[in-house]
This record gives sequence, C-alpha cells and structure tokens, in this order.
Amino acid sequence: MSEGTVEGGGERPVTILAKNNGPFLVDGPFRLVDADGNEYDVPAGKKVNLCRCGASTRKPFCDGTHSRMGFEAAERAVRAAEAEGQTPSA
Ligand code: FES
Repeated sequence: MSEGTVEGGGERPVTILAKNNGPFLVDGPFRLVDADGNEYDVPAGKKVNLCRCGASTRKPFCDGTHSRMGFEAAERAVRAAEAEGQTPSA
C-alpha cells in the first residue's frame, strides 16, 4: 500500500483538527504552499500544527506561543439547523 492510500484502495482523506485553544493539526497527505506557490518542506506522513492564533514566529507553523498568550478557541462544529435553533429532522 502506498503512502496516502487506505485499505480498499482510496486516498486517505486529510483531517484537520481544530485543537482546543491551539493550532490546527493537519494529518494526511497534503502539500503546504505559500502565497507564491512555493512548497514548505514537510516530511511525508508527518502531522503538522498550523498556527491559528497569529502569534507564532514560525508561521505558518505553531511554535507554542498560543499557550503563553492565552489564546482561546474551543468552538465546535455545529450543523446549520442547530445553529439556527431548529431541531434536526430524523
Ligand atoms: S496556534 Fe500555536 S502559536 Fe499560534
């Protein structure tokens, strides 16, 4: 099985985890490029923490500064119907 594939033959989807009060943890086969299209050196198969607080000195990567500055972000994914106060139909 080649890297990035899962049993059954499909590509493994990229998962981006919004960590509580912290970075986005990116897991899966992906390319990370800057605004000019230049690719960052990310070892294949490695999970990467991307800064979402804006304070990292190593952007786009997290350097841990979020915890020292008290960054807060613990949102949860909410379906549109729930956000509008509607009861989801069964
Ligand atoms: S999220 Fe960690 S330094 Fe910004």
